[in-house]
Amino acid sequence: MSTDIEVVVAGVRAVARDVLSVEFRHKLGLPLPGAQAGSHIELALPNGLVRQYSLVNATGQARMDAYMVAVGWDVNSRGGSVWIQERLKVGQALRVSAPRNLFEMAPDHRRVLLLAGGIGITPIYAMAQACAQEGVTFDLWASARSASRLAYLEELKVLGGDRLVTHFDDERGGPMNLAARLAEQRWDAVYACGPASMLDALSAATDHWRAGSVRMERFKTAEVRASERQSFELVLQRAGLTTTVSEHESVLDAIERLGVNFPWSCREGICGTCEVPVAAGEVEHLDFVLSPAERAEQRRMMVCVSRCGSGRLVLDI
Ligand code: FES
Repeated sequence: MSTDIEVVVAGVRAVARDVLSVEFRHKLGLPLPGAQAGSHIELALPNGLVRQYSLVNATGQARMDAYMVAVGWDVNSRGGSVWIQERLKVGQALRVSAPRNLFEMAPDHRRVLLLAGGIGITPIYAMAQACAQEGVTFDLWASARSASRLAYLEELKVLGGDRLVTHFDDERGGPMNLAARLAEQRWDAVYACGPASMLDALSAATDHWRAGSVRMERFKTAEVRASERQSFELVLQRAGLTTTVSEHESVLDAIERLGVNFPWSCREGICGTCEVPVAAGEVEHLDFVLSPAERAEQRRMMVCVSRCGSGRLVLDI
């Protein structure tokens, strides 16, 4: 994605503890490209980082007056959320991409469960607004560590009414018990965004649901502990280059070290920009782009996060 739209920060406000809502408008006052619920934009920060944020206000408009995102304080931030939380100012000029949607709602899903954990509320809030506009029946379950940490809580109460179920870990002594609540499939589909622990619990609780009825977006990459990482040989067969990928670097790092200019965007296994055909080698898939079937084929990989478990990886580049 190219961040070629010039915007200015039109507003910044706190919408929960450690969560800022940021509004961007076109620098020249022009309308911005519209987007469906579930879409995200990329934001190019002055420190050189590019970060992706779900559009809170994307509900299927052809054009939008503003892009709204919410940014949580991330203790593991590598410079994205910290920069926004500490340095972003109203009036600042930045560049964003046109919206892209990797978390689309299917039009034939007419009764849905929307499930959010923490800052994962951002695409889910947009989906709830879209459902309300389009007459799709929805239940909205939103959880956070405490009520003060759930962004847009007052807006969710108005939007969801008695279809909103909130769950705050500090009041209940732990996370929501999804297995008990989801034993029966009462919806066409569930759309979920939140931390890996919540989505893993959702996967386990819905393994008997109809195929294609569990849709989720992760906002954290699967981590391989450094102690579990192995070095391996990397061959770029068309470029005729070979190197060793150390346990401390990614395949993408190694490709760049070889002097090959290669496209990437998130470096977190989320966007799909760095997908590469695999010619040989056993891939350990750590991305959130490929489906289980695509992973099993072992024909492509996201080189920013995925690794090799067989000692030698040959890529068709
Ligand atoms: S750069 Fe986004 S998936 Fe690799």
